[in-house]
Amino acid sequence: MRALLRGSIVLGLIAGPALAAPRTYAVPDPTAQLTPPKGGGGASHAQGYEAAQANCQTCHSVDYIATQPPGRGKAFWEAEVSKMIKAYHAPIDEADGHAIAAYLADTY
Ligand code: HEC
Repeated sequence: MRALLRGSIVLGLIAGPALAAPRTYAVPDPTAQLTPPKGGGGASHAQGYEAAQANCQTCHSVDYIATQPPGRGKAFWEAEVSKMIKAYHAPIDEADGHAIAAYLADTY
């Protein structure tokens, strides 16, 4: 009897966590959006905007871009995009990368 009781306690301990109800989390929707390109950049900025929408929100939110100090310029954004590709392996081809940097430099 005692052995049986001990057995069911052990079983209870093992089965307990597995029987727990699955948890659900309500993750807030990302609200920040990329700012559409200003008029000046022409077709290349439209390409940069589209490429940024497709490639720059897969790993993190747009906040990473939008919260950078404004007016940092082309060299900063070229370096940023290049870092995303080289350090973090973002699958972005070179032409798209330059278009993204140009669009970001003129928009942020
Ligand atoms: C493969 C994943 C990935 C993609 C795709 C990606 N990033 Fe990032 N990004 C990261 C990581 C990782 C960090 C660093 C996060 C940290 O340190 O908290 C980061 C950080 C940043 C930052 C903050 C400053 C910094 O250097 O840490 C900026 C700005 C940024 N990314 C811009 C971009 C832009 C623009 C694109 C599109 C060209 C992009 N990211 C695409 C992974 C990615």
